Amino acid sequence: MSWTPACRLADIPEGGAVRVEIGDVPVCLVRTEGQLYAIHDVCSHAEVPLSEGEIDDTTVECWLHGSRFDLRTGKPTGPPATEPVPVYDTKVDGEAVYVHLAGEAGGVHLAGEAGGGRLES
Ligand code: FES
Repeated sequence: MSWTPACRLADIPEGGAVRVEIGDVPVCLVRTEGQLYAIHDVCSHAEVPLSEGEIDDTTVECWLHGSRFDLRTGKPTGPPATEPVPVYDTKVDGEAVYVHLAGEAGGVHLAGEAGGGRLES
């Protein structure tokens, strides 16, 4: 599995999103509810960056027409988008966030026994 460094964990606000470029692939990194998610940073309905949308629980809202995408699966939870957005595996090593572009769905715990990273002190 090939992991690419994306940013520092501290660069991603809790309950917020940042856009990073992995090669030429735009990726939206989200911290919410103690977990880290990576989702392709283009809405499946039109060319709109999801990283500019609101985060609510484990969804991100596209600001243009209001579709929400589940950060765990990439699937839209309501119209007008009908197609899923790719999601990627993430891991945290110290303060460094890594993304695996070919990965499947899933977030990573940032704290607790299941976690691969730690929250900043
Ligand atoms: S562009 Fe995202 S829902 Fe329309």
